[in-house]
Amino acid sequence: MALTVVDHPLAGALLSALRDRSTPPPLFRLLAKRLALVCCLEATRTLPTAPVAVETPLTTTGGVRLATPVVAVPILRAGLGMLEAVTELLPEVTVGYVGLERDHATFEPSFYYSKLPPLAGRTVLLLDPMLATGGSAAAACTALAKAGAESITLLSVVAAPEGIRHLEETHPELNIVTAAVDEGLDDHAYIVPGLGDFGDRLFGTS
Ligand code: PRP
Ligand code: URA
Repeated sequence: MALTVVDHPLAGALLSALRDRSTPPPLFRLLAKRLALVCCLEATRTLPTAPVAVETPLTTTGGVRLATPVVAVPILRAGLGMLEAVTELLPEVTVGYVGLERDHATFEPSFYYSKLPPLAGRTVLLLDPMLATGGSAAAACTALAKAGAESITLLSVVAAPEGIRHLEETHPELNIVTAAVDEGLDDHAYIVPGLGDFGDRLFGTS
């Protein structure tokens, strides 16, 4: 598994503002989108390119285009907070959705929705800002692999060591890009120090 922790001052500043409990939902959404942009840039750093010829106003020169189509799959709900950043950076991206909800007592995820475009031969960006126990991301990766995905990168905002270990064991081929690896999980499987419930803070629910 390849784990990349985004090392950029903007990512650090944006994440600190997201962690702040006094950040209200409208600002939280804006900051989440900006941080997702930074993470998406990092996650797409190794995308394969193909050469193209470009006519500039002066001459012909060599350029590149992305060689593989990209599919973005946000895990509902919190992953929606990262989607707009990805569709802005990659306007040709196709989008699928996976709905997963973590049980409050067992922390086990259950599926309530899935709609996926063709995945074979494409690079899949799985969007879920919180990697806690890793159960949700692992279940999503299993579903994506069943649907034909061969190359998956998880874009996360905060990851717990427990979740990283779980994904290492269950999906060793996965790439993870995250803005931070935190200390661990509390008794309710929330990430500490974390930023609380991302979905609730994004959508103003609780
Ligand atoms: C949160 C979060 C992740 C999941 C992470 O979703 O957005 O999907 O928990 O936890 P895990 O790594 O232990 O599986 P939640 O189930 O709260 O749903 P929501 O996004 O709709 O709030
Ligand atoms: N889901 C969240 O939104 N936050 C956590 O800390 C853990 C799971």
